[in-house]
Amino acid sequence: MLFNLAYLRQAISVWIIKRIQRHGPKRVEVLGRIYEVSEEVFNPRFYFTSAFMARHIEAGPDDEVLDMGTGSGIQAIVAGMMAKRVVAIDINPEAVRYARRNVRLNGLEDRVTVLEGDLFEPLPHGERFDIIIFTPPYMEGSPSTDFEFALYDPGKRLIKRFFSRAGDYLKEGGYVQMLYSSIAEPSRVMEMVDSLGWECHTIARERTFTETFMIYRLRPRGKTGDRRLGYEDRHSV
Ligand SMILES: C[S@@+](CC[C@H](N)C(=O)[O-])C[C@H]1O[C@@H](n2cnc3c(N)ncnc32)[C@H](O)[C@@H]1O
Repeated sequence: MLFNLAYLRQAISVWIIKRIQRHGPKRVEVLGRIYEVSEEVFNPRFYFTSAFMARHIEAGPDDEVLDMGTGSGIQAIVAGMMAKRVVAIDINPEAVRYARRNVRLNGLEDRVTVLEGDLFEPLPHGERFDIIIFTPPYMEGSPSTDFEFALYDPGKRLIKRFFSRAGDYLKEGGYVQMLYSSIAEPSRVMEMVDSLGWECHTIARERTFTETFMIYRLRPRGKTGDRRLGYEDRHSV
């Protein structure tokens, strides 16, 4: 019953998102910055998640940041205004084109590099970051268009692959900052992430019309650092 309710909420969200992608403006302003997108690129103006995550980025001038699944480039651009260097990755070639365009539009091409590929695959060997930002797709379904990579993660396989490898790309004391949703079995994801050796803190939570969003900071268990995770609470979903 509970699962069916979550599934219904997912179906409503997907219906709304697809209409927004098709009919929404393609040049938008978010937190004072301009972004251009096409129908195939996750529009940062109309989903609560983009600005919610962007407002919670805390990077310092010496930090190196990885923005996984960059979409329009919004998180990379916000991080690029604070950090020393940002690398952004997306599997959707159209997102990569628009993220590069938005980086130029915001005058950050000397600090933000956008790469195309599947998760960590485009990174040179040995690259490590202080912060890895990730808003993964979390709906149940299979992507059949480039845009749908922003929506679907069948069987949570992407998130599992991400956390199996992310530790290799973090500097000592670094963390992953991930946004997740109440309608996509967060307890199951937290159990999986826990079993892969990560500890998790919730730093923000916001309820919307369709779901509640959480921002987590995660680091490999046993690794410490002076970098404050900042908490609302621990191991909470
Ligand atoms: C929910 S959107 C978030 C976009 C953006 N970070 C934001 O906050 O607006 C998820 C993004 O992850 C990308 N993505 C999905 N699977 C990926 C993979 N295997 N490797 C890299 N990027 C991926 C999608 O193409 C999409 O742009």
